[in-house]
Amino acid sequence: MKKEKQFKRTLITTALPYANGPVHIGHLAGVYVPADIYARYLRLKGEEALMIGGSDEHGVPITILARREGVSPQEVVDRYHNIIKKSFEDFGITFDIYSRTTSEIHRRMASDFFRTLYDKGAFVEKTTEQYYDPEARQFLADRYITGTCPHCGNERAYGDQCEACGTSLSPTDLTDPKSAISGSVPVMKATRHWYLPLDRYDAFLREWILEEHREWKPNVYGQCKSWLDMGLQPRAVSRDLDWGIPVPVEGAEGKVLYVWFDAPIGYISNTRELCPGSWEKWWKDEETKIVNFIGKDNIVFHCIVFPAMLKAEGTYNLPENVPANEFLNLEGDKISTSRNWAVWLHEYLEELPGKQDSLRYALTANAPETKDNDFTWKDFQARNNNELVAVLGNFVNRALVLTWKYFDGIVPAITGLTDFDRGMLDCMAGIRAGVERLLDTYHFRDAQKEAMLLARAGNKYLADAEPWKLASTDMGRVATVINIALQITANLSIVFEPFLPAGMDKLRRMLNVQPPGWSRLGEADILEPGHRLGEAGLLFEKIDDGVIQAQVQKLEDRRKANEAVERRARPVREAVTIEDFGRLDIRVGTVLECTKVPKADKLLQFRIDDGLNRRTIISGVAMHYRPEEMVGKQVCFVANLEPRRLKGVVSEGMILFAGDAGGRLTAIMPEAPVMPGSEVK
Ligand code: MF3
Ligand code: ZN
Repeated sequence: MKKEKQFKRTLITTALPYANGPVHIGHLAGVYVPADIYARYLRLKGEEALMIGGSDEHGVPITILARREGVSPQEVVDRYHNIIKKSFEDFGITFDIYSRTTSEIHRRMASDFFRTLYDKGAFVEKTTEQYYDPEARQFLADRYITGTCPHCGNERAYGDQCEACGTSLSPTDLTDPKSAISGSVPVMKATRHWYLPLDRYDAFLREWILEEHREWKPNVYGQCKSWLDMGLQPRAVSRDLDWGIPVPVEGAEGKVLYVWFDAPIGYISNTRELCPGSWEKWWKDEETKIVNFIGKDNIVFHCIVFPAMLKAEGTYNLPENVPANEFLNLEGDKISTSRNWAVWLHEYLEELPGKQDSLRYALTANAPETKDNDFTWKDFQARNNNELVAVLGNFVNRALVLTWKYFDGIVPAITGLTDFDRGMLDCMAGIRAGVERLLDTYHFRDAQKEAMLLARAGNKYLADAEPWKLASTDMGRVATVINIALQITANLSIVFEPFLPAGMDKLRRMLNVQPPGWSRLGEADILEPGHRLGEAGLLFEKIDDGVIQAQVQKLEDRRKANEAVERRARPVREAVTIEDFGRLDIRVGTVLECTKVPKADKLLQFRIDDGLNRRTIISGVAMHYRPEEMVGKQVCFVANLEPRRLKGVVSEGMILFAGDAGGRLTAIMPEAPVMPGSEVK
């Protein structure tokens, strides 16, 4: 391992979100909240630091969305860039710049970067056969080809993936491929592209990552190692597409830079846009530490491809660390933009106004740092009510209210320390080293937990000291305890500043102090005796069940809507013959009795007059019908279904229901009364 480097400044980059949708809590938990905590922490320490962000505005999905909506790709990215930028601002992510990859400066830098590599002979050119749409007269990106999945028979699989069975595909795997643009059958046609021969960087990458950066997070290190062990292949860095940065080489008409070639250069161009005169010190000076915050799906690009590009170019520094997170799921399911399965940031800000810190806190407490994690609204509520309100807010409130009650809002002086007080002060003094060590190594979740320990210790201190019992006998002791409680409060306002910036701003107003600065963390004399506090108030508010219920309901509705779409999209099953159909004996019966099946929420037990006899049938419709409303109705049922035992009852047949788009079931009934036992044909 190489020896510890000394750095003078830190450049924090955050993955540039695709401008084809708004950002959601998964983006926040994976990238922007940890990066913002880190940036605020460094600034609070007085260090020179920049946080760079921006939208990633090229790539095929944006062109597909534009085509579907009948608008230009520029219109799509303008719309989402603005939504994303505003929601980040309102949420309080403190980018020093949030720009975009359609900027002029980016187009020029990415283009020049490519040209530099081209002139150095860093690319290899290869001609391959790819699908081409003869009608639209263009090459087809994998996503633009649809066809039948060879694994599951889904007729709407894409050239890169089947969404029905999840298999990744290449376009030539599809049986009967079609162009998604014109619907015509694509043909194979030769096309020439530029490739970055990653295999040439194998030795360099092995040394740089596997030897020199053993300290990287295990999930990042492990993914890199497995890529390297599989053997690196040349990667195409150009595409046949009409949206992107043109390949700056003669004879490359109709070709653009691959989105993953230009996007990471966006970190550099956005830095340059922010600091036109001094951007190079952030990228080329050995004393700058570069840290890339990303999600796990971006690891290969940031740890293998981009470093190889930078190495090939030769004048830029490589990242010092890439603290990638795993994924955050939502209520047990993978977050998905296309299925609208997400908590969208702009909606959260509208529906839970002023609750930025609650979300920051819950996302950090539950951050997917080492494995995928699940966000649930119940957990969100519990974190807010049981931790922010009941631990942190409660402690601060007690300290302030006691000061107003016994000392008119003036900080009292210490009259003498007991061992018990010293224990508390030692604990306070120790917080800084712990939190710093954790933040310096990107353990944001544990760092926040550590900070919370100070509030917990404060609550315990007050509960044990019981100053309210001493007011009539020992005001000197009361003064000491309250002074210490106030110093703890001031310390909390420092240590929580990176995590809960809005709340700590409020707290400083209650304490009537300017930001004390990180260096004072741990000190017991931040508030001078005689200092007058500001007005006390509640630091955080409880979130009611109703608010949570509304969010859960909203997701529930979306889940239903998705299921409905999936059901409608279900292709018609394989053909059957009239003889096959004739084997089913479907009849009409009259419901004589209907009751709930004990210990089964979903089941109803029907007693039916089937024309010959009475029979019992169990149906899973208790969510859709009350038993009494079925009595006397005529229903259709499969009369020759083999009897099955359900919950100890033998069910002799199956009643027919229609399932509507929302998942509701409704019984199939004859339009006019008929004799029980009549055949359905
Ligand atoms: N847009 C990509 C994504 O959302 C991230 C790009 S990061 C950059 O996965 F390095 F390319 F900018
Ligand atoms: Zn499939």
